[in-house]
Amino acid sequence: MKVLLTGANGQVGRSLQVRAPSDIDLIALGSDKLNITSISSINNAFSEYKPDVVINAAAYTAVDKAEIEEDDARAVNALGPKLLVEACKDNGAFFVHISTDYVFDGEATLPYKETDPVNPINIYGKSKAEGEQAIIRSDAHYIILRTSWVFSEYGKNFLKTMMQLGAQKDRLNIVADQMGAPTYAGDIADAIYTIIRNKDKFRQEIFHYTGDQITSWMDFAKYIFKIAYESGKLQKRVFVKGITSEEYPTASKRPKNSVLDCKKIKDLCDINASNWQAAVIKIIKS
Ligand SMILES: NC(=O)c1ccc[n+]([C@@H]2O[C@H](COP(=O)([O-])OP(=O)(O)OC[C@H]3O[C@@H](n4cnc5c(N)ncnc54)[C@H](OP(=O)(O)O)[C@@H]3O)[C@@H](O)[C@H]2O)c1
Repeated sequence: MKVLLTGANGQVGRSLQVRAPSDIDLIALGSDKLNITSISSINNAFSEYKPDVVINAAAYTAVDKAEIEEDDARAVNALGPKLLVEACKDNGAFFVHISTDYVFDGEATLPYKETDPVNPINIYGKSKAEGEQAIIRSDAHYIILRTSWVFSEYGKNFLKTMMQLGAQKDRLNIVADQMGAPTYAGDIADAIYTIIRNKDKFRQEIFHYTGDQITSWMDFAKYIFKIAYESGKLQKRVFVKGITSEEYPTASKRPKNSVLDCKKIKDLCDINASNWQAAVIKIIKS
């Protein structure tokens, strides 16, 4: 099976490359080789590689910067998926798209289900929701995998930022009133390959896939520092003080409740939630 991967140099893109099963012929293209906002770039890739499956791991992910770069965010997160899914439909390819918990407003008191209405509260979330809508409207063969709080060995992410800050500081103030589930990019990659193997069972689905333990950014940080200290990667303990979102103003508003209900992907695909604590230990120790 020929699988074309966009955004190959991002966290999920790199994890998909490292974890590609041997029976999959993966063509992994970074933004220099395939620009998803360009129809000619997409057409060239389709005529050259003739993929059976397209995984879109490309995105504009700078949540705060998106507030001042709305056009760029919408080009990559809304127009890009629209052009890709249309090309998939025209060429009979299965489309796998990654989306986000930030399509929700975070006001719910329960974990969000796939059927809950979206209501994004920032530009990044709006652009991702627009991308989802274009896919849903396309009537192509697709799945949308919504995930949250992605971390990995690669790129920029919360774990790597905490390790850098922990090496420089003894005390940190971290937001304690946003709840969610960290998700290891390696587990996202494995989940996507399982879905692709079962692609004929699905026509058009949204799945939620995140970590197995709900936490706050503050407790996520505390866990990282605990493991880093116990494994000798940090020589000192870092004191973490919880603060409110209001005490840590950012350009973009973030949902207070980012928790996604992952029952559907377990029931339909037998995919277990990401064991993020095990992944934190693995990454820090290595
Ligand atoms: N990171 C998170 O916490 C998080 C949370 C929830 C959902 N998600 C979703 O998960 C997916 C993967 O995120 P990630 O963390 O792996 O993102 P990432 O590390 O920021 O990688 C995104 C990749 O997209 C590429 N890209 C940007 N514009 C492009 C374009 N026009 N054409 C082709 N490629 C382009 C970037 O390449 P360049 O560097 O060359 O620009 C980058 O390598 C995204 O859909 C994101 O919305 C992420």
